[in-house]
Amino acid sequence: MKYPAVHYHDYLQIDKILNSQNPKSHEYGKPAHDEMLFIVVHQTYELWFKQILFELNAVLATFSREKVEETEMGVASSRLERTVSILKMIIGQIDVLETMTPLDFLEFRDMLYPASGFQSYQWRLIETKLGLRMTDRLAFNQSPFYKALSPDQQNEMMNVLNQPSLFDAVEKWLERTPFLQSQNFTFWGSYQDAVTRMFHDDMNIVRNNSALSEQDKEKNLKSLEASLGTFAALFDENAFAELRSQGHFRLSFKALHAALLIQLYRDQPILQTPFRIIRALLDIDETMTNWRYRHALMAHRMLGQKIGTGGSSGHKYLADATAKHKIFSDFFNLTTFFIPRSQVPVLPPEVTERMNYR
Ligand code: HEM
Repeated sequence: MKYPAVHYHDYLQIDKILNSQNPKSHEYGKPAHDEMLFIVVHQTYELWFKQILFELNAVLATFSREKVEETEMGVASSRLERTVSILKMIIGQIDVLETMTPLDFLEFRDMLYPASGFQSYQWRLIETKLGLRMTDRLAFNQSPFYKALSPDQQNEMMNVLNQPSLFDAVEKWLERTPFLQSQNFTFWGSYQDAVTRMFHDDMNIVRNNSALSEQDKEKNLKSLEASLGTFAALFDENAFAELRSQGHFRLSFKALHAALLIQLYRDQPILQTPFRIIRALLDIDETMTNWRYRHALMAHRMLGQKIGTGGSSGHKYLADATAKHKIFSDFFNLTTFFIPRSQVPVLPPEVTERMNYR
């Protein structure tokens, strides 16, 4: 089949892109050289946000199906890994923007009120589609975050907020992990013993550590006991429900068990792709946190203690959001209960049989 000839400029709509930089400082007759960089960096971010959303929408569609095929899982994990690569790369653009000094920024900053990254619809979509809920967000100006968006975007955002996020879809997928209910599968009992032993060993290390004061020992022991208590709740549905209602866990009882199983037995061929997916989700959360942190530092060096153009407390708001806006924290916290690979209980043969490809 012959296709009509395509020209580079037309195909990529280069004219449209290159004619979309209109510095306000030029419009007001006070040209500020660095405003061009400021615009180009923001626009580049929005293009990459578009690509991230394209990948996330595809992954969300895959995970929302009743039954996720193995072949689709490989593609889904590659798309999540691509998202991580993009996020890592766009953090680097902060270096470029920071070649603009605060004094140069001040030349045009006043012309931008009340525009702010707070109004970035695509960034909000990324966060929300991944699973950042209203309740996870910092309060801002006593009104919900979406009030900063245009009326059309607000309507669309309400729809997105009411649909299952990637977190929700992944949770359902984890709950369907088949190997949790094998008849002779006494794995959890042996695993509990191994982890409890590890915590008791850690407590002995603290007790015998002559470098610690009695006060510090007591503090560390209390924290280990609390972790042990949380670990015990992983195997008691009622205790777990109590901790979950207090916000200690977000994933369901079943999903958390599946995530633990996948992490511990990731070398089993059938758990390799699920493991890659969990790792990519961890990476996305970590990289978004890195981005938020770098962005907060940039805002600090550019603004000092000034408030943001969007009306927040500036770098302080951004630093607090960095600490709070997390989605897949359960995957991070599960690591508390990891034991050395050599001590992970051996799976019964009928389970490994089912886990291996023939
Ligand atoms: C000179 C450079 C920058 C400064 C000083 C800065 C400052 C700020 C401040 C103070 C806020 C808090 C909201 C407000 O009060 O306005 C904010 C939010 C935001 N900015 Fe920037 N920013 C800069 C560059 C960028 C760039 C290049 C992007 C890329 C898209 C970006 C994206 C965002 C986003 C997404 C938010 C919302 C964050 C949240 O609420 O969690 N900013 N920015």
